[in-house]
Amino acid sequence: MDRFIIRGGKPLHGEITIGGAKNAGLKLLVAGLLTSERLVLTNVPHIADIATMRALLTQHGLTVETVGNDNTTLSVGGEITSTEAPYDIVSKMRASILVLGPLLARCREARVSLPGGCAIGTRPVDLHLKGLEALGATITLENGYINARAPNGLVGDRIMLPFASVGATENLMMAATLAKGRTEIVNAAREPEMVDLANCLNAMGAKITGAGTGHIMIEGVEALHGAQHRIMSDRIECGTYACAAAITGGDLRLIGGQIDHLGAVVRAFEEAGVEVTQEGDAMRVRRTGALRGIDIMTEPYPGFPTDMQAQFMALLSVAEGASMITETIFENRFMHVPELNRMGARINVHGSSAIIRGVHSLSGAPVMATDLRASFSLILAGLAAHGETILSRVYHLDRGYEAVERKLAACGAQIERVKG
Ligand code: UD1
Repeated sequence: MDRFIIRGGKPLHGEITIGGAKNAGLKLLVAGLLTSERLVLTNVPHIADIATMRALLTQHGLTVETVGNDNTTLSVGGEITSTEAPYDIVSKMRASILVLGPLLARCREARVSLPGGCAIGTRPVDLHLKGLEALGATITLENGYINARAPNGLVGDRIMLPFASVGATENLMMAATLAKGRTEIVNAAREPEMVDLANCLNAMGAKITGAGTGHIMIEGVEALHGAQHRIMSDRIECGTYACAAAITGGDLRLIGGQIDHLGAVVRAFEEAGVEVTQEGDAMRVRRTGALRGIDIMTEPYPGFPTDMQAQFMALLSVAEGASMITETIFENRFMHVPELNRMGARINVHGSSAIIRGVHSLSGAPVMATDLRASFSLILAGLAAHGETILSRVYHLDRGYEAVERKLAACGAQIERVKG
């Protein structure tokens, strides 16, 4: 298993190019199941989760080909030969559940392994299933699998989500593109990735309006066709490197970064004493003064994203005064806390809140990555700490961040990957 060795204490200066969004790219690949023609995606990030999604689509019978030489364009197409998503892939990556709606809409049946819990929480899929039932599917659970059938095709309906689930909104939006009549999704998730997915589906011939608001309307069509679509840039990767500039007292230009997509994150940076500006196609982040403690609560977009919580925890651990972070989306997303405390942070968890008492400095230590975003919070802590940090289980990081060590080292960080 690979490890990172980080020698901290250097402010980062320079430019980092932000890649295509993991959380958009995964669903856009799945959209390839909705047509027999080819869907070409550009700005595809080179990360492990995309490779897993390619493997899943391939076992459904599609071909996923790399176009050109730079590894960032994929062409998806071909006939669906299997409507089953097996346990070994779904258990590796929960986003696999997103094939359920498209398979059902296109083939009128699907068998998808139940994802089960994961490190950050139990993460049920009841909203996906109830929504598909509202569209006319018959769903049974058997032997750890979801068996879904709609022999006469899906039929549009009004679906009121009790919680603005990202995955449920996407699954239902994709399924509804091929349902008969109109589907309304009320209390839909409003993340920018929703808009990116809807734009791509509309380019494929779907009729979706309202994506990015809490009320999405989809007029079903007979069939979708091929299209070409550029994946939006990754707002979480952008926010993560912004934290690297902030925690080291540096100055970074994040190429492709969009302030507009970061919502409450920008306000949190500003309150904490970090300057964030849009300069053309880049977001510039710098800190010259002290970091100040702030209170944060994670919420669905446009609130503060749970996917930035761990990174801000590292940042606030060296801020002046006390901070409080309340996690409302996932019940077990504080696994980075004991690791940060091993590096000298003073963080106490009380239920879904963490109190962070800022310390003057952190010290390097051997630490262990537990999930994707938690891994990066430990890198951030390592970049700010005195001495050497050895981060093990880097494979968590490779699921969603491309070329971390290269991007950081180019801006002055001392970080190297040790294979093995
Ligand atoms: C997506 C993102 C993930 C992000 C999350 C919240 C992808 C691949 N992943 O995950 O990075 O952290 O949004 O912004 O895009 N829930 C239910 N029943 C359901 C569905 C969800 O109870 O049927 C609960 C979940 O357990 C969780 C909360 O709702 O507590 C949020 O989940 P959801 O918005 O669906 O997140 P994901 O789509 O899984």
